[in-house]
This record gives sequence, C-alpha cells and structure tokens, in this order.
Amino acid sequence: MAKLWSGRFGKDTDKTVDDFNSSISFDQRLYREDITGSIAHAKMLGKQHIIAPSEADRIVEGLNGILRDIEDGKITFSEDYEDIHMNVEQILTERIGDAGKRLHTARSRNDQVALDMRLYVKKEIRNIRALVLELMDALSESAEANLHTVMPGYTHLQRAQPVTFGHYMMAYAQMLRRDVLRLENTLELMDDLPLGSGALASTTYPIDRDYVREQLGFARLTQNSLDGVSDRDYCVELCADLSILMMHLSRFSEEIILWCSWEFKFVELDDAFSTGSSIMPQKKNPDVCELIRGKTGRVYGSLITMLTFLKGLPLAYNKDMQEDKEAVFDAVDTVKMSLRVFIPMFRTMTVLPENMKKAASRGFINATDCADYLTKKGVPFRDAYHITGQLVAECIRKEKGLADLTLDEFRAHSAVFDKDVYEAIDLVNCVKGRKVIGGPAPEEVQRQIRGIRDFVQEHGEDREA
Ligand code: ARG
Repeated sequence: MAKLWSGRFGKDTDKTVDDFNSSISFDQRLYREDITGSIAHAKMLGKQHIIAPSEADRIVEGLNGILRDIEDGKITFSEDYEDIHMNVEQILTERIGDAGKRLHTARSRNDQVALDMRLYVKKEIRNIRALVLELMDALSESAEANLHTVMPGYTHLQRAQPVTFGHYMMAYAQMLRRDVLRLENTLELMDDLPLGSGALASTTYPIDRDYVREQLGFARLTQNSLDGVSDRDYCVELCADLSILMMHLSRFSEEIILWCSWEFKFVELDDAFSTGSSIMPQKKNPDVCELIRGKTGRVYGSLITMLTFLKGLPLAYNKDMQEDKEAVFDAVDTVKMSLRVFIPMFRTMTVLPENMKKAASRGFINATDCADYLTKKGVPFRDAYHITGQLVAECIRKEKGLADLTLDEFRAHSAVFDKDVYEAIDLVNCVKGRKVIGGPAPEEVQRQIRGIRDFVQEHGEDREA
C-alpha cells in the first residue's frame, strides 16, 4: 500500500514500523469527534472560498454518510491507514472523489488530532460528571435514611467518637463534590479551539477560526499555534482529576470491605453485587470494591504516563504524543466502569444499624463527652480529661462501659458528678450535641444533605452520561 507521503520516499515502510506506528486500533473511538471537526472545517473552507462551496457541500454530505455507516457498523477501518484521521479521509475520497482530497486544505493532522482529543475529553468530562452526581444523589438518600444511625467514628482505626452513618455518607459526598468542581475546572481551562494551528505554524490560507469555534462549541481560540498543537495539559489534568476521584472511590471501597467483614458487619452487600468462593461455601466476597481499589493504580498509571512522555518534548508536535490516547482512554474507561458498578452496589447495600450501635456502645467513644461534662461544670479540661482517663481504666478492669458505672463509682473520682452524667454520655445525646456546622447532629446532617442536593441540581443541568 503506497503511503500518502510516497512522493518523497524511495521505498515502502517496513511492516514492523507500520505496526508500531499505527494507532487505528485504539484511536478509532474518536471517529465522531474526527468527523464533526472535519465537517466544521469543510464548511469554513467553503464559506471562505478556499475551496468551492459546492465541494464543501459534497464533503459535508460524504462525511455525514460515513458517520451514519460507522454507527450502523457498516465500516471496518483499515490498518493500511495509520489512524482514524487518514482512514476517514481515505473513505471520503473513495466515495466522493477529488472533493475529498481537498478536505485537508489548511489543516494538519497535528491540529486535527489536538481538536479531536479536546472534543473527546470535553464529552467524557460531562459523562463522568453525570455519574459522580448520580452517586452523590445515592449518598444523600442513604444519609437521609440514616440520620439517627449511630456508629463509631474512628481515628487510627480505633473507635474514637460517635457519629452517624448519615454523617459518614455525607463525608464522601463532600469529596465527590470537589471531584465535580475539579472536572469542571479542567473543562473551563481547556475550552480553546486548537484547529487553525496547522502543523505548527498556522497557515497562509484566509481561514475563519472563529466560525469553526462557534460550530464546535468552544469558548475561545488557542492563542499560539506552537502551543495549540503541543498542549496536552488538559489530558494531564483529566488524569489527575480521575486519579483523585478513583482514590476517593478506593477509600470508600476499602471502608465497605471492612464493614462487610464479620469483624465489623456494619453493612451487607446484595447477593447480586457479591461473589462466592470456589472452595469455601460460607464466603461472600466484596470483589467489586476490591477491584475498584485495585484499578485505582491504573488510573494513577495514566497520569504518570502523560507527565512522563510530555516532560522532555521540544515544541511542537512529536509522535510521543500519540501515547496520550491509550492513557486517557483507559483512565476514562476505568472510572466510568467503576462508577457504573459502584452506584447500584451502593444503592442495594443493606445498612445494619444494630451492629453499628453495638460497636458504638463499646470502646468508650463517649469518653470525650464525659470529660466535656465535667468541663462544663467548671473543671479545667485537662483535669477533666485525666479524671475520665482514670474512669476508663477502671471500666476496663471491671469490664464495663462508662454508662454502667454507678453514681458512687463516678463520684469516687470527682464530686462534681451528678445523675445528669448518664444523659451527657448517652450516645444519642453525644451525637445530638454536635450540631456545629459540619457536625453529626441529625439536623446538621440534614442541612449538609440540602447543600449537596442543591449542588447536584445546579451542576447536573446538562447531564449526558
Ligand atoms: N495518530 C497521531 C496522534 O495520535 C495523529 C497525528 C500525527 N501527526 C503526525 N505528524 N504524525 O498523535
């Protein structure tokens, strides 16, 4: 197969080079972006009389036909043409003849691929955002149902202070809220049309970049042609955003893995979202969570791939940049797949409030409240802290909880103790009392839920998924 550039070459490319160089096996997923970009470019060429308007019309019609045929599965791409850009151009020329050969006027594959990737990333950011917002919805629902579900909060994985399951869920909602904002920030920053940059030095044709920009829905034009074809910052940013998002999903997954264990038993996954063991009949495993935790590494891998191949590149386009595709595609696929399975798994998960309550009643998670009780009665906090420490030590010796101590036992450590101490260290009251902004008190968590719901509505206007 003679290459496009065979005019300048004395022989065919070696087969190993063809295989190594070719990206059609993976960049064919950009066919829609490629055709959409070419249609806008062709219309502009016609409008500017760079090519005859009638030829521009034939190109547009031809490209629309190719798009339809690809979507109907009627086209198989050929390895003979390196990438999606050359494949589409080749098919177009086969179909409409010479007019097809004019499409690439005033354009290079370098600004073409830069455009295609931007269109793709913009689309996928919206898709991923829609999924994250859906998970935030699910978290709000679960939080609302569990405003009063007391559970131990942990530090160092040691029982620390009482919170509620609703409060816990809203913590994850906050992380996801930042993930959405990060994605939107990436979207805003990358919203420049690179087409018109040419191979690197723009073009001498009287193109109308703004007309193309308008058709393709970009906010601005790239302002330097060298940068226009070389910039992949938005791919790095996307991978960074997705790495953080996966890190959040992975922490949540780890949490669910722990909660599913017999040691915790705070939740139970639906049978449809669990797996069994091939040898141990009793097993019910949280494989989905483990896989999300495991797949987080490949998204980090994409980020490192991007950063590494860019760091040594002189301006402008270098073939290394073709490596952006698989890195970005894999990160996008992994995140979407993970969210698509995590959401229904979470929605069908059963919460076990009794077990949470049991765990909360052991481990002295009301010790801080006991100290605060004394402090509120005038004992300096450090003394109150020391007295409570002695009470805890006594409880451990006697194998009981703070609430099981008699008033005399309390008073042996401080005369300040009175009957109302039992109310003060009651777990439900401990939660209720923490009603500052951000706290676990039911009314405050309800406020947090309202905030997240408003956010979801505000940011979900153009949901695609
Ligand atoms: N397949 C290439 C890529 O993904 C397209 C651009 C190629 N340009 C070039 N001058 N070789 O980066």
